[in-house]
Amino acid sequence: MSEVLLSAQHLTKRFGGLAAVNDVSLDLHRKQIHAVIGPNGAGKSTLTNLLSGDLPPSSGSVRLGDRDITGWNPEKISRQGLGRSYQKTNIFLPFTVWENVRLAAQSRQPHALQWLSRATHLRAVNDRAERAIELSGLENRKQAIAGATSHGEQRQLEIAMTLATEPQVLLLDEPLAGMGVAEAERMVALLLRLKTDHGILLVEHDMDAVFTLADRLTVMVNGQVIASGTPAEIRADAGVQAAYLGEEH
Ligand SMILES: Nc1ncnc2c1ncn2[C@@H]1O[C@H](COP(=O)(O)OP(=O)(O)O)[C@@H](O)[C@H]1O
Ligand SMILES: [Mg+2]
Repeated sequence: MSEVLLSAQHLTKRFGGLAAVNDVSLDLHRKQIHAVIGPNGAGKSTLTNLLSGDLPPSSGSVRLGDRDITGWNPEKISRQGLGRSYQKTNIFLPFTVWENVRLAAQSRQPHALQWLSRATHLRAVNDRAERAIELSGLENRKQAIAGATSHGEQRQLEIAMTLATEPQVLLLDEPLAGMGVAEAERMVALLLRLKTDHGILLVEHDMDAVFTLADRLTVMVNGQVIASGTPAEIRADAGVQAAYLGEEH
């Protein structure tokens, strides 16, 4: 059995009378992409906010590796190895691609290393930024001004900035949103590369991409999990077809 990196256990989030996330459990394994799908309003973004610490759950718990991280703040969770990209981006548009990734790498300099010489410190930051740029396929765009890059490149940059913090787990909420066909293909290839040593929780509407990428799927409707399993199991699930896949596919 492969290693569970991130685990949600009976997570519930209520907004007033509405249970936006209702008793959701899932396990994300190393080297796997776990997709969460469902119609608008199903609770997918709320679930990612519960996992990242951006929202506290009403009940239930979250484990990252062997730690219970329920109630931790996003900064502390991120330091523990969970990287997320936000739909609202935190790219500094007037800065270059390289500068953005370097700043992200710097934000994550471990305190334990701060006694090192300035030169060693800078080298560690630069190395981390370099690796993130390379992994995300932006080597040729390092000196481009972020605000002048394409929509697809900005999404790649967000992922590079997340990678610069050296996470084990990536939470990605609709990384393909707004992309053209060629950009989407590039992003799918990038996610497949990242899967070789990360666990990825992927919220995505593009069903072709989801079924290309996912090792496991969790299907949510009205805050609840209506099915979870392999892509083949989800395709064959009559309840899923009726509730979600049926209309569009
Ligand atoms: N901060 C909030 N306050 C109140 N209701 C919210 C809040 N965030 C989300 N919701 C509601 O929770 C439900 C799930 O939303 P969301 O998680 O964004 O769904 P999805 O990402 O699947 O489209 C929706 O009915 C939405 O209106
Ligand atoms: Mg959403």
